[in-house]
Amino acid sequence: MNWNKWIRQAHRWLSMAFTLIVAGIFATLAIGEPVQWVYVLPLPFLFLLIVSGAYLFALPFLSKRRGGRHAA
Ligand code: HEM
Repeated sequence: MNWNKWIRQAHRWLSMAFTLIVAGIFATLAIGEPVQWVYVLPLPFLFLLIVSGAYLFALPFLSKRRGGRHAA
């Protein structure tokens, strides 16, 4: 598996983990106020999503400049 595919897969799975954590936080809010550190849990995932997402965004531009067709 090449590097770009690996980053795309990572972005996909990180997005699922991030979504489940945020949904989980809303679910616990229905029961009562969770402990404060629970709100920090999605942040590392969001950070990695931003980094991998920015990379995915840049891919088509980078591949055009190099004249390749290997963006995906
Ligand atoms: C916040 C910064 C983020 C940036 C800059 C970003 C950017 C991108 C980019 C550029 C793509 C590729 C689109 C394409 O050319 O096909 C992508 C794909 C995707 N993003 Fe994000 N994204 C971010 C956050 C998220 C979040 C928060 C989620 C969901 C919770 C998410 C879910 C996805 C999914 C599921 C794909 C499709 C991946 C695949 O299977 O190919 N992203 N994102």
